Amino acid sequence: MNSNQPWLDPSLEREERVRLLLRALTREEKIALINGHIGSKSPGRAAPPDGALGSAGFVPGVPRLGVPDQQETDASLGVANLHDGVGATALPSGLAIAATWNEDLAEAGGAMIGAEARAKGFNVMLAGGCNLTREPRCGRNFEYLGEDPLLAGVMVGASIRGVQSNQLVATIKHFALNAQETGRMSLSANIDEAPLRESDLLAFQIGIERGRPGSVMTAYNRVNGIYCGEHDWLLNTVLKGDWGFDGYTMSDWGGCHSGAKAAKAGLDRESGQELDREPFFQKLGEAIDQGALTEAKLDDMTGRLLRALIGAGALDGAPAPTIDRDAHLDVARRTAEEVIVLLKNDALLPLPRSLSRIAVIGGHADIGVLAGGGSSSVVPWGGFAKEIKPANDTLWAPFLRQRWLPSAPLAALRAAAPEIDFAFDDGADPARAAALAASCDVALVFAEQWTSEFIDVPNLSLPDGQDALIAAVARANPRTAVVLITGGPVLAPWRDAVGAILAAWYPGARGGEAIAAIVFGDVNPSGRLPITFPADEADLPNPALPGADLAKETPFAKFDVTYPEGADVGYRWFASRKRPTLFPFGHGLSYTSFAYSELTLEGGEALAAHVLVTNVGARAGAETVQFYVTNRPGGAALRLIGWGKAHLQPGESRRVSIAADPRVWADYDPVLPGWRVAGGSYGVAAGASCADLRLHGAVALAASSRRP
Ligand code: BGC
Repeated sequence: MNSNQPWLDPSLEREERVRLLLRALTREEKIALINGHIGSKSPGRAAPPDGALGSAGFVPGVPRLGVPDQQETDASLGVANLHDGVGATALPSGLAIAATWNEDLAEAGGAMIGAEARAKGFNVMLAGGCNLTREPRCGRNFEYLGEDPLLAGVMVGASIRGVQSNQLVATIKHFALNAQETGRMSLSANIDEAPLRESDLLAFQIGIERGRPGSVMTAYNRVNGIYCGEHDWLLNTVLKGDWGFDGYTMSDWGGCHSGAKAAKAGLDRESGQELDREPFFQKLGEAIDQGALTEAKLDDMTGRLLRALIGAGALDGAPAPTIDRDAHLDVARRTAEEVIVLLKNDALLPLPRSLSRIAVIGGHADIGVLAGGGSSSVVPWGGFAKEIKPANDTLWAPFLRQRWLPSAPLAALRAAAPEIDFAFDDGADPARAAALAASCDVALVFAEQWTSEFIDVPNLSLPDGQDALIAAVARANPRTAVVLITGGPVLAPWRDAVGAILAAWYPGARGGEAIAAIVFGDVNPSGRLPITFPADEADLPNPALPGADLAKETPFAKFDVTYPEGADVGYRWFASRKRPTLFPFGHGLSYTSFAYSELTLEGGEALAAHVLVTNVGARAGAETVQFYVTNRPGGAALRLIGWGKAHLQPGESRRVSIAADPRVWADYDPVLPGWRVAGGSYGVAAGASCADLRLHGAVALAASSRRP
């Protein structure tokens, strides 16, 4: 290390390194460091910028001072959209990972994708999507972590910890309320402070506390009329003020709308400026000259970026890890095995290996497993098994390809049970598929729903006549199991006609193998829904997708979205309105069964809960024991306050304990300002889903308050 460059000395305090480096940088260099570019070819540029790896983002470094280039890649499911001719390991979708309710797995997945990103030369991952899935038709729900702020916050925090264990920066996103893709660049998400703090913001708050990401990406949309990238209250008051976030904020690609104005509102870095109306942050020097921005503010912005890079170790030149492909694919497999949710089972699954003939129908099960579209799409090792390109070759076309990962369920089923004869039908002709099903012991129907960033699904029905296909097959052979490969919840008008339903989400690079392992019982399913499956779209807070008609006519039309559910996102809405669901939040069956006993509660200043769970079946399995507040002094409520996943051998018992975070059941009081726990009696229940509460108790809590 050059002694003239003390900021490169890892033994110095981080703040001292930031201070010294800020002193050495010229104003132009500081401004350049917070001007983000598209890292691949872009409008008006046929090749990536010099030195860029051909990914989402790039910012040239300052070689004379040892400041590295910022090489940025999406995202939460793996190193995305990098056409380096090699590939990367694709994890199951985010919503799938949330269905594991297993923090350790989320962290292992983050560590795995972070290692690949580092090995490929990246130092910033745009990974950490945790928008609450308020809108079940949102095309991007597969990237997020469900509808509960505690679950989403805990899981995103774990994944960020994993990513950042590799000397790179992770980015929690999209701050805030990017709940739908339709109109995302223009809509205003309108909500009062208290419900916002208690829901979407709480997920971010918990995620940031637990994961300590270096960076926060602002959302495209407006909140209460103001673009998130110019939102003084969200960025300065809440994020940097109340929560003390000391890293940097970056705009989403094309989501910066001004220079000095955005900077003063708390935006530290313009991203993908080629997509913005103009490269706003290039003019920050002029803004300083004209007195519209101070040098001190520029130092704060650049300092935040440097703090994140130095904090991650990105200036320390640690050798990049080498990729152990088999070990990484094993992380994808272990995760996939825990993401799958057994939604229904009339003693059909697991299938015995004594069967002679199984019909495998539809869903490209002979080719691979579907993945979600958009910026998070991971090119797998060896390339995709199948790709369907959109008809029009627009700028966004590469992001809108339907892609299947090469992990064909049919091949995996054959490998798992070589003694069984598997007959495949692509499902294009329901009568033909039904005839095949009638000639087999069992039918496995794979049903797909492709979802993608940029577009929402028009409704929650399976597309392309798959409902009719499933109904026809189930009529021909009631021993039919359906495997859903979907971005999120779908309706299932055929639910009562089939023997079993599995939700496999987008299960990633080892999805086919995981499905086969579950189908034959080599793995006992342990996924639990992180999102409600509604029974009817009419029951949703917004029965029609907000702005859908308008956006069809005028894509960038400004419109308002309101949220009748307020803080009661997902299951809380259905519970408070007493609306039925197809499958409730937290639901998931097992091949064994679990008994709950000895619920004990501790109250007073803090709430703790304990319950004994016993595997009373004949197989090893895992139960996700969930605790909910069911009653507050003000009346009935339903709020997840903690959970524990217990892996149990037959006959084995374990005590599952939680110490609950008051913010998940408190009220946010903007006048206080802060969280207010009303003193009095609280109902607490332990159970296997929000609708399957097995043991109830009550506990007295003291009144208390807590800062925002
Ligand atoms: C997405 C971000 C992503 C960025 C860069 C945007 O379209 O909303 O999540 O990180 O592109 O690829």
